Amino acid sequence: MKILVIGSGGREHALAWKLKESKRTEKLYAIPGNPGMAAIAECVPQISPTDNTAVVAFAKEKGIDLVVVGPEAPLAGGLVDALAAGGIKAFGPAKLAAEIEGSKAFSKDLMKKYGIPTAKYEVFSDAAAARAYVKAEGAPIVVKADGLAAGKGVVVAMTEAEALAAIDEIMEGEAFGKAGSRVVIEEFMEGEEASLLAFTDGKTIRPMVSSQDHKRAYDGDQGPNTGGMGAYAPAPVAPPALVAEVQRTVLEPTIRAMEQEGRLYKGCLYAGLMVTAEGAKVVEFNCRFGDPETEVVLPLLKGDLVEIMLACVDGSLAEVEIPWSKGAAVTVVLAAGGYPKAYEKGAEITGLAEAEAEGCLVFHAGTAAKDGIIVTAGGRVLNIVAEAADIKSAVEKAYRGVDRVHFKDAFCRRDIAHRALERMK
Ligand code: AMP
Ligand code: GLY
Repeated sequence: MKILVIGSGGREHALAWKLKESKRTEKLYAIPGNPGMAAIAECVPQISPTDNTAVVAFAKEKGIDLVVVGPEAPLAGGLVDALAAGGIKAFGPAKLAAEIEGSKAFSKDLMKKYGIPTAKYEVFSDAAAARAYVKAEGAPIVVKADGLAAGKGVVVAMTEAEALAAIDEIMEGEAFGKAGSRVVIEEFMEGEEASLLAFTDGKTIRPMVSSQDHKRAYDGDQGPNTGGMGAYAPAPVAPPALVAEVQRTVLEPTIRAMEQEGRLYKGCLYAGLMVTAEGAKVVEFNCRFGDPETEVVLPLLKGDLVEIMLACVDGSLAEVEIPWSKGAAVTVVLAAGGYPKAYEKGAEITGLAEAEAEGCLVFHAGTAAKDGIIVTAGGRVLNIVAEAADIKSAVEKAYRGVDRVHFKDAFCRRDIAHRALERMK
């Protein structure tokens, strides 16, 4: 089969790597792809992943049998619908289903209507009413911009003043544009977070192994929020018994709810969970694989990803086996100095083969090829991934790989998986 991956990050490199393993894969393409993906896929940087017309034309011209869409923007922009209209199979939710991520107000209303556990909330399009609600509820409280704000539209306010300032910034500032015209104000949930990705064909939903990412830039969960500085799987905070509970209380009801709402959801559903004293509650849904969670979840998948994805598209997921490794995987993100604020690009990267020689997988996130060398081209530059029998061995192996890789001003967190390791003490 000819398979096209849409996207250019570490998540898409991991997807391409796993798809490549399948006996059914003859040829891989990527739009736009990255230099790491270029080793296994033909990359097509001229086409934009959100140019539906151009992507459909490319898929037709090359006779693509399956398109796998990584990021949320093309999903929210209806790429899967456009491909389906052109007779091309695509893994990922259609535009209406992708709203589960694109609109927090939609997903919160859905959870309320169908009794899916989540934080209590109200949606406001009027700043004065939002302020009054915050004053009535008190802090801590959480203020979120409604639309896609690249993870930056959430303020966990420990004081009332912080919450009021967040409302002003989101609703009256310029930074959020349309995404800031409505705010969701939520009850603060206390607990530890976990991510649960699931494959679904719209009727059957099957969880992957649980995982946990590390959103803050620095060790000890300090510093600004980032796109994710590392991850590990499985997450001891979400053991199989909890995953089974979430399957019953969250995943199955959500898939049925989406079908009832006329938004049949196919693809990967990402449930961001808070494991609280009262059980697991949904923090957010994403309409795609997580990044960097995918980089640790897919190495543990021992089944055929092409077969699983085709079953999701065709509605036959109940018939497919999805075996998982009993081991663990860890990814450490190597970032450019300054990230998530301003950082330099163009620094030469060395030691990639040496990291692989340590037994690690290297997934590219923000790199470019220039005059035959690999240089930095983004804030999150590389994922160094290790699989081992347990988390502790995977952490040690991942950092052995990390220590082989060098570029100017590189930094990473040194405490990836610390919560898992603390639980094991
Ligand atoms: P979101 O973009 O909705 O995933 O929110 C980003 C981060 O804010 C989450 O990963 C949590 O760490 C935190 N957060 C969001 N909502 C809540 C909540 N209701 N209670 C506590 N923390 C939250
Ligand atoms: N790792 C968080 C996300 O993919 O949204």
